[in-house]
Amino acid sequence: MTLGILAAIHDEVDALIAAMRHEDAKATVHRVGMRDYHVGTLHGQPCVLVLARMGKVAAAATTVTLIREFGASEIVFTGLAGGVGDATHVGDVVIADATLQHDLDARPFFPRHEVPLLEQASFATDAALTAALRQATEDFLRLDLAEAVPAPVRARFGVSAPALHLGLIASGDQFIGAPAAVAELRARLPGLQAVEMEGAAVGQVCHEYGVPYAVMRTISDRADDSAHVDFAAFLSEVASHYSSGVLNRFLAARR
Ligand code: ADE
Repeated sequence: MTLGILAAIHDEVDALIAAMRHEDAKATVHRVGMRDYHVGTLHGQPCVLVLARMGKVAAAATTVTLIREFGASEIVFTGLAGGVGDATHVGDVVIADATLQHDLDARPFFPRHEVPLLEQASFATDAALTAALRQATEDFLRLDLAEAVPAPVRARFGVSAPALHLGLIASGDQFIGAPAAVAELRARLPGLQAVEMEGAAVGQVCHEYGVPYAVMRTISDRADDSAHVDFAAFLSEVASHYSSGVLNRFLAARR
C-alpha cells in the first residue's frame, strides 16, 4: 500500500515533507508536470507527498500522477475550507463523507452537478479511511491542540472549542467570499458543510481509477465578506498544525 497525501498550499504539507526527510534518509524527490513528488516513508509507511496547487485541474492532474506514476493505492487530501454549515466555525474540522463539484453544470445534456457519462454528481469517500481520519482528528483536537496551537493564538482567530463535522464538501474553481453566494449554495446543496477548490476533483479521479480517498479540511473562514482576512496568518499559525498533527496521528494509528 502506498498512501498519497496532497494539499493545495505549501504550508499544509511542508511539515510532513520535513518529517519524511528526517525519518527516511532514502526519501527521493521526483519532478513531474511542474510538481515535486516526495517519495519515502512516514511512520514506517510508504507515502508520496505533493503540493498539488489550487483548483480542480491542478488537483486532478496531481491525483492521476500519484496513482499512475507513483502507485498510490489510497489518497488523502488535507487543506483549508470555508465553513457554510450552520455550525461550522473557524477552527473546526470538516471531513467529507462525499464531495461534489458545485460549479459543474452540463445542462441541458446532464442534470446540474452530474459528471457527464459517470451518472453521478457526488463521490463518496472511503468509509475506512474516513473513519480513521475522524479518529485521528478527534484525538488531535482532544489531546494535541493545546500544545500545537496555544490558547492565545487560537483566541486571536476566535477559535475556542473546535468541533469535528462529517458531511458534504463542495468544490469549485472559485474562492467563495459573499453571504449571498453561500445562501445560494446552501439552498442548492442541502447538508453542505464546507466549500473549497479541489476535493471533488480528487474524488472523481479516485472513482475513475478505483482508488479509495478521503478529505480533511480545517475551516479558515465562513466564506463571507471577511473570508480573505488573515488567511495567510491562519494558515501558518493554525491550519498547518492541524494538517500535520492529524496526519501524524492518522499514520501512527495505522502501523
Ligand atoms: N478555501 C478556504 N476558504 C475558502 C472559500 N471561502 N472558498 C473556496 N475555497 C476556500
